[in-house]
Amino acid sequence: MDPSFTKVSSVAKAMADRSAGRQVDEVKSKVDLVEVISAYLPLKKAGRNYAGLCPFHTEKTPSFMVSPDRQVWKCFGCGENGDVFTFLEKIEGWEFRETLQELAKKAGVKLAAFRPTDRDRDRDKLFAVNSLAEKFYSHLLNKHPAGEVARKYLAKRGIPQTLWEKFGLGYAPSGWDNTLNFFAKRGFNLADLATAGLVIARSTSGARTWPGGGFYDRFRERLIFPLKDSRGSVLGFSGRTLRPFDSAQDSGQVREPKYINSPETPIFNKGSLLFGLDVTRKAIRDKNEAILVEGEFDVLSAYKAGLENVVASKGTALTQKQAVILSRVAESVVVCFDTDLAGDAAARRGIELLDISGVGIKVVRLGNYKDPDEFAQSDPAGFKEAVGSSANVYDYFIESASARYDGRTSLGKKKIGQEILPIISKISDDLVKAHYISQLAKVLDLETSLVAAAVEKKQSNLYSMLSPESKSDSSNKTNILNLEEYFLALFVFQDEATFSFLKLVEPSDFGSEEAADFWKWVRDIIKDSKLKSKSLKRLLIGLPKNLSGFVDNLYLVNISPAFADKELCAQELVKTARRIKQESCKRRLSAISKKIKLAQSKKDEAQLSVLSKQFDVISKNLKELI
Ligand code: UTP
Ligand code: MN
Repeated sequence: MDPSFTKVSSVAKAMADRSAGRQVDEVKSKVDLVEVISAYLPLKKAGRNYAGLCPFHTEKTPSFMVSPDRQVWKCFGCGENGDVFTFLEKIEGWEFRETLQELAKKAGVKLAAFRPTDRDRDRDKLFAVNSLAEKFYSHLLNKHPAGEVARKYLAKRGIPQTLWEKFGLGYAPSGWDNTLNFFAKRGFNLADLATAGLVIARSTSGARTWPGGGFYDRFRERLIFPLKDSRGSVLGFSGRTLRPFDSAQDSGQVREPKYINSPETPIFNKGSLLFGLDVTRKAIRDKNEAILVEGEFDVLSAYKAGLENVVASKGTALTQKQAVILSRVAESVVVCFDTDLAGDAAARRGIELLDISGVGIKVVRLGNYKDPDEFAQSDPAGFKEAVGSSANVYDYFIESASARYDGRTSLGKKKIGQEILPIISKISDDLVKAHYISQLAKVLDLETSLVAAAVEKKQSNLYSMLSPESKSDSSNKTNILNLEEYFLALFVFQDEATFSFLKLVEPSDFGSEEAADFWKWVRDIIKDSKLKSKSLKRLLIGLPKNLSGFVDNLYLVNISPAFADKELCAQELVKTARRIKQESCKRRLSAISKKIKLAQSKKDEAQLSVLSKQFDVISKNLKELI
C-alpha cells in the first residue's frame, strides 16, 4: 500500500473517529476506572462495587461508589457522578482535552488529528525547553566536575544524593552563557529560551554588541530546584545561591537574592504550585494530611526525617490556587511556617483560604528552631513529634494572642478582640465557630453570647460594644462598663419591667449604690403601679432627679443589636444576674472574713459562731451559683 495514502487516510479516519467519539471510547475501554480512582482515594470492595470516602465533599462514612461493570461512579452523599473523564476533570481541574491526552498516554492509545492551536505549540515548546534544562542542570550536579561545589554544599546541609535526585535537583554553574550555549548548540531559538525564563535579554542601551545574541543566563552558580506540576512536567525553576548568603551583605557587592525563581511564563505561575508535590503526593494521599512548609530545604529535610507528606508554598502567603490544590489531596494540613501566623495578615489569609476549602488546619510550633529545615536536621525525632502533636489553628491563634495581651484588662480585651474576632467570624463550620466563640469568651472573661454577638456583627472591637459610644471625659468614672451596669443596660434595652427580670437580683446584690437605688426604685414602682404598660421608657417619667444621670448612661451603652432577640437578651440577663450574685456573695464573704478575724482577736466566741454560720450559708449560696 502506498504509505502516503495510509497517512492521509489515517488522518481522515482519525477525524471521523473523533467526531464519533470513538477515540474517547477506545481510551475508556483501555483504562480501568477502579484503578484510576484508587490513585486518589482508597477504595474497598463492597459487593459488586467499590466504596470510598467521596473526594468532592466531606464525609465520615463512605457513600462514594464505583461500578467496575459500568465503569461509572456516583456519590450518594453529594450526588456527583460520571465516568473516568469527569472524575479526572473534577479532581485535577483538567479540561477535557488534557484529560483525554493523559488517559491516552496511560492506555497506550495514540491520539490523532488534534490540530494544536498556536497556544498549544507555544506551551509544548516551553515544556520541552524546561525538560531539557532539567536534564542539563541535573547532569551538572550529578556527573560533572563543575558540580562539586554544589554537591559539597548539599552534603554540608545534610542532604544525601538519593534524596536530591528524587526531587530532581540540579546545578547551574557560574558564568554568563552556559545554559545559553547548551541550548544554542542544539538549535534552540534564544527567544524561546527567554520566554521560558532561562535567559534574560541584556538592556539594549549603548552601542555595545554582546556575545550570546544579547542574552545571558538567569541562573548562575546556583542550586537548581525544578518546579513541577502534579504530573511531573517542569513548569519553572528556583535557584538558591551557593555563595555564603549572610556574608554577601557585608562584602560591599550588590546583594543577589537568596533564591531566584523563573519569571511568570505561559506555563509558570509561582502562586499556583507547591514545591515537592509531584514527589510527595502519594504520601500525602495515604496519610490524608499534608505538612505545609515555606521553603525547598524544609521539604528536603522533613522528607529525610521520615515525614514524606510535605510540600512548600515557596514563601509565606498561601494563595487560593495552592489552597485548592491542597484541598484536593488531603483533608488536613499541618502548617509549619517560620513566621508567626497570628501576627502576619497574609499568612492568616492563607489559613482562611484553607478553611474555606474545607481543610482541617493544625499548626506546628518550631520552638527555638529557625525553620523546619533546622528543626528536622538537628532533631528529627523531635520534629516528628512536634508535627504529630500539632495544635488546631484556632487554639493556636487564641493562645498566641493571649500570650501577647492580657485578656483581663480592657486594653487586652480590645487587642485580642481585634485580632481574633475577624478570624472566628470567618470559620466556615458553624459548630467549630461556636466552639471557638466560647473559648474566646473564656479567655476574655466575658459572656459567651456577647462574644457571639460580636462575631455575628463582624465587630472587631469588643470594647466599643461594652462601653458607651460617647466616652465623656467629663465623667471621672472609668469608661469600662462593669457587670452591674451591663446588666442594667441590657434591662433598659429590652424595655420590659416584668417581675421575672426584677426578681433575678436583689437591690442588695448590687455593689454600686446608684445601681441598687435604681433597682429598688423600679421594683417599688412596679409593685405599686396599676398601669398596664410595663414599658420602662414610660415608667421612667417619674424617675427621681438624682438617678437620671445614671439612667442616661445606661441608655448610652452600645448594646449589640443581636439582643433585639428577646430570648437571647433574656438569657444574657439571667447569666449576668448570676454573676452579679456571685460577686455579691464574694463581697459578703470577704466582709464576714474581716469580722471573723476581729472576733477571733477579741476571743468573742458567741459572735464567732454567728459569723461562721453566716459564712457557711453564703459559701453554700455561692457554690450553687457557680
Ligand atoms: P527563607 O528566607 O525562609 O529561606 O525563604 P529558607 O527556606 O530558610 O532558605 P535556606 O534554608 O537558607 O536555603 C523561604 C522560602 O521563600 C522563597 C524560597 O522558596 C525559600 O525557600 N524565597 C525566599 C524566594 O522565593 N526568594 C527569596 O529571595 C527568598
Ligand atoms: Mn532555611
